[in-house]
Amino acid sequence: MRLGFALSFLVTVLIVVYVLFSLYVPQGDLGGVEVVGGELLLPLPRKVSFITVEEAILLRKSVREWRDSPITIEQLSMILWASQGVVEEVDGWLRRAAPSAGATYPLEIYVVVGEGGVSLGDGGYVEAGVYKYDYRRHSLRLVKSGDFRSDLWQATLRQDWVREAPVSLVICAVYERTTWRYGERGVRYVHIEVGHVGQNVYLMSTALGLGTVAIGAFHDDEVARVVNARRDERPLYVFPVGVPLRPHKADFRELQDLYSGLRR
Ligand SMILES: Cc1cc2nc3c(=O)[nH]c(=O)nc-3n(C[C@H](O)[C@H](O)[C@H](O)COP(=O)(O)O)c2cc1C
Repeated sequence: MRLGFALSFLVTVLIVVYVLFSLYVPQGDLGGVEVVGGELLLPLPRKVSFITVEEAILLRKSVREWRDSPITIEQLSMILWASQGVVEEVDGWLRRAAPSAGATYPLEIYVVVGEGGVSLGDGGYVEAGVYKYDYRRHSLRLVKSGDFRSDLWQATLRQDWVREAPVSLVICAVYERTTWRYGERGVRYVHIEVGHVGQNVYLMSTALGLGTVAIGAFHDDEVARVVNARRDERPLYVFPVGVPLRPHKADFRELQDLYSGLRR
């Protein structure tokens, strides 16, 4: 009797210790996402999708309705990497995911994360706030805490898909980085470049099963204020990202039929 009691007591203690241990997340390690000194080190880029470029192009479309669901930190990591991440070191300089005139890289990216907008995969979420992407370290640095999606919605002429998306990227340009070398023509180059980055955001989102829409209609100064942009950083594009409400389907057979009709 005594032995039975002692054994069940021991088993209970072991279960309690196991449960407590599995719930414990050491500081600085949020389910595989390291946070060091207020900097969120993103999961490193890796091969994640199995769709081809032609499939991503066929499937890409602007999405404005979202499921009530977060995106994951891995997905955010891959979208940021595709937009401005490093792909190679060449003679001491870092070549990036999108082309840049004279490799002057004038773009900076802010991320507006909503409450519960980015899951960490361990039941936790990235703290709501505005973050700035550090391409060198592939990390996010907190600019300010809080859910600023409503402010961004106001600044983007109240386009509902901005307020409702779990996350938005705000792409800003520092024109001087390009115009000091190319003069007035550098302005054209910066605008071309943000288009390249935007397409990468679209295609990476599509490949991940996510959706996005390019937002060009907004009050520049208001968007800059929402993300605490520096004086020399001008917002050019906003990309809300989320899980599409309706999955989009497309296949090359249908497209070929469409072309057959167009050629008639
Ligand atoms: C420069 C630019 C600005 C845009 N601005 C907005 C915008 O402010 N709001 C919006 O809902 N869509 C915006 N769009 C998305 C277009 O409406 C969309 O690309 C177009 O309808 C074609 O649809 P698709 O992207 O699904 O092929 C913009 C697209 C571009 C290229």
